[in-house]
Amino acid sequence: MAVVRIPEQNRTLCQFEEVREYLASIGIDYERWNPSRPVAADAPAEEILAAYADEIGKLKARGGYVTADVIDVRPDTPGLEAMLAKFNREHWHDEDEVRFIIRGRGLFHIHPPEGPVCAIEVEAGDLIRVPRGTRHWFDLCAEREIRAIRLFQNPAGWTPHYTESGVDKHYEPVCLGPAYIPAPSTRRALL
Ligand SMILES: [Fe+2]
Repeated sequence: MAVVRIPEQNRTLCQFEEVREYLASIGIDYERWNPSRPVAADAPAEEILAAYADEIGKLKARGGYVTADVIDVRPDTPGLEAMLAKFNREHWHDEDEVRFIIRGRGLFHIHPPEGPVCAIEVEAGDLIRVPRGTRHWFDLCAEREIRAIRLFQNPAGWTPHYTESGVDKHYEPVCLGPAYIPAPSTRRALL
């Protein structure tokens, strides 16, 4: 389950419906997927894509995506730092950024046209669609590991356009972790 934090409002959202609704209000699609048939997170990419073929087909029809692949990032991935440095500064692109997380965790920050920046921590089972033109940036969590299905409208991929706003420097790329439990004050507010 994704966790959304809105630092300016000192709010943390951890329930599926409130996460989905909040993200929808800023133009971000969020879903949870279960495979049509069980598949291991370490299965070969073709098996992963086959297991989620129905969901991928629906997304392609909905968003005009033409290709899907599986990206696999681990702490020892060659060139990892350079790769991360491309995405951890505020940018936008002409293509949607669509990720379905198979393993590991990551942190998207979204900077909507109006309203505060929010952080979305994604983990296995989470689908996120960041529409084209959305200002955002991405960091890995502390394990520095993520495996995800990606969908593309243009098979050649996209080029990030950097805003150079520096806004990303104001937000800590800190993940809360899968065992996150809201602090007592927040928990009371949720009840
Ligand atoms: Fe991006």
